[in-house]
Amino acid sequence: MNTLIINADQAGPVINKNIYGHFAEHLGRCIYEGFWVGEDSSIVNTKGLRNDVVGAMKKLNPPVLRWPGGCFADEYHWKDGIGPREGRPSILNTHWGGVVENNHFGTHEFFELCEQLGAEPYICGNVGSGSVQEMQEWVEYCTFDGESPMTKWRQENGREAPWKLKYFGVGNENWGCGGTMRPEYYADEYRRFQTYVRHLSGNKVFKIACGPNVADYKWTDVLMERAAGHMNGLSLHYYTHGGDWGDKGNATEFSDTQYHHVLQRTQLMDELITRHSAIMDRYDPKKRVALIVDEWGTWWNVEAGTNPGFLYQQNTMRDALVAALNFHIFHKHAERVQMANIAQTINVLQAMILTDGARMTLTPTYHVFEMFKGHHDATSLPLHLSGDEFSSGDQKIAAVSASASLKDGKILLSLAHTDNSREATIECELRGANISGVSGRLLHADKTQAHNTFDAPNTVAPQEFNEAKLNGSKLSVTLPAASIATLELTIA
Ligand code: AHR
Repeated sequence: MNTLIINADQAGPVINKNIYGHFAEHLGRCIYEGFWVGEDSSIVNTKGLRNDVVGAMKKLNPPVLRWPGGCFADEYHWKDGIGPREGRPSILNTHWGGVVENNHFGTHEFFELCEQLGAEPYICGNVGSGSVQEMQEWVEYCTFDGESPMTKWRQENGREAPWKLKYFGVGNENWGCGGTMRPEYYADEYRRFQTYVRHLSGNKVFKIACGPNVADYKWTDVLMERAAGHMNGLSLHYYTHGGDWGDKGNATEFSDTQYHHVLQRTQLMDELITRHSAIMDRYDPKKRVALIVDEWGTWWNVEAGTNPGFLYQQNTMRDALVAALNFHIFHKHAERVQMANIAQTINVLQAMILTDGARMTLTPTYHVFEMFKGHHDATSLPLHLSGDEFSSGDQKIAAVSASASLKDGKILLSLAHTDNSREATIECELRGANISGVSGRLLHADKTQAHNTFDAPNTVAPQEFNEAKLNGSKLSVTLPAASIATLELTIA
């Protein structure tokens, strides 16, 4: 049995909606085929962007979209991606499958996509193989409304007014694909590049420095010591996989032991944020610099028969649980974690949507994003949870994870139950609020391997859930094995 106490009259930090952010790289079929099909495509589109995908993504209220990479960002030269499409150069996408990149999706198309989605643009600039001038001119091209060669060029390319560009990343994984730099060297490069990322025409840029690879605490320490005063955010990348980088495990075929192993690895996110935050606290006790988890999610072996460089993988109930656990971790650290961007939106890694020609299917992970929407910009509520654990080898795993938030007179309680062998009962006490009603939704399937396909798109989909019983300030909930529930509690 699990007991949960929610303190509805004690406000925790606000859960920044940007924690529910997305990431789209020029990788595999994320941009091309995923979002972009071109204006002449037989797939119904608006200005080249497919209507079905944009329509489905809009239902998630996507707050922010990071682009163009990833590793691609540090090889991307933005001037290749503007002007008449037939005149744009084709280049080699060295990182991802060695395919030809025709640059048909560039800066204008990205801002159009963000406008259609209602998402804030987050551009990641090129430090690894780009120049300071190139980065400076990109920001000027996008945001300046005075007279300048960049303004003139943007206008010649069809965009009169500047765009609003808040989030700008100064490089990506510069410890690896972004230049194989040492932290001391990158800290200096960061300081130099960011100097020229200007706030133009009233556009205030939120500057994000490349942060550590997983548990590289030295990187965080050096960056914070040498450059904290010049940044608004420091990124963190951590992927959950089921083995090692050589064999990351199969997306849909896995044993209970492998499933448990992945749950444990997911919990590492909590430790990483705690320890990186502790270092950040030493240099920035007021938490001015945000931790931006701008790449996270599951990473499995690619689906059989697909290009290994395209990172196309299926997505099961296990992925949904990993997503829910991560969100609960981000909420717990909401004071420091101000943005997170799952990798990646369409057809790549832990995607929201998979496409096959004109067909598309929503993944179990999509449904978690949709069910958790009520947490966007809500005030987190402190809670105490104690309860069941289940064993995997000599390890113990907590069966239930929970998070609660308050917005517009309603409490959203999200519950993730990871034990796939039995149901869980949760006795919940709501302190400091009178609850007049409860409604619920449940994501559940007959096994953790369950997933959606183009022929069976609703194998894992949310359903109405009536197994939450309210009695005064007590709420009793029974969850099936391996399930995710959201309960909306109305305050009287
Ligand atoms: O998301 C796939 C890749 O993972 C990104 O390009 C890179 O930043 C990370 O290593």
